[in-house]
Amino acid sequence: MEQIIIRRATIADAVKLSAISIQTFYDTFVGTCKEEDMTVFLKEYFNLKQVQAELSNENDFYYLAELNGRVVGYCRWMEDYTNFSLMKRWKSLELKRIYVLKEYHGKGVAQQLMNLVIQYAQSNQYQVLWLGVWENNHRAQKFYEKNLFVNSGHTHDFPIGATPQTDCWYWRFLETSSEK
Ligand SMILES: CC(C)(COP(=O)(O)OP(=O)(O)OC[C@H]1O[C@@H](n2cnc3c(N)ncnc32)[C@H](O)[C@@H]1OP(=O)(O)O)[C@@H](O)C(=O)NCCC(=O)NCCS
Repeated sequence: MEQIIIRRATIADAVKLSAISIQTFYDTFVGTCKEEDMTVFLKEYFNLKQVQAELSNENDFYYLAELNGRVVGYCRWMEDYTNFSLMKRWKSLELKRIYVLKEYHGKGVAQQLMNLVIQYAQSNQYQVLWLGVWENNHRAQKFYEKNLFVNSGHTHDFPIGATPQTDCWYWRFLETSSEK
């Protein structure tokens, strides 16, 4: 595969980011919820205004993976304890999203994005990197386990519209960590 370029997203990338988010989420979760719930969810989470607001926050990190100018994946991370307050016990970084287009799965794109967030976390003295993953998203779970994440045993509700779903919190304690 040709060389993937990874760069931080800017506000000018909002349209592309909204589009890849909608497509990847739909491809991953279609059939797991009612179609109308999917529609509501996609509009609420990935509408242009929402993505622009996130991109305007300098503490909200979006990195794009581009191939020949096309965004084929991205990741998003932030220090944000609102969804899992237990993490306040450590200096923790939430990997909020890692999304790669279906045709680029298994090609190392996700791994390059993961390497970047791990590097960022380590060089900024984070003790833990954590994320939520749907309990039945086995491909993603396997990917995280390859990257030394483990299931913390904690879960949270992550409904898609009116369809209830459960996410598992996975975490990886980093080498800088002194306690668990
Ligand atoms: C999750 C994601 C980023 C991982 O990237 P990827 O390129 O697919 O990851 P990899 O191929 O390196 O690793 C996936 C592993 O799961 C394995 N796998 C594939 N399907 C599987 C399944 N149904 N059950 C268990 N393991 C599975 C693969 O064989 C691979 O393991 P291997 O490298 O030992 O062969 C990517 O699949 C993605 O963007 N998915 C859609 C969005 C998503 O789910 N994001 C995560 C939300 S928490």
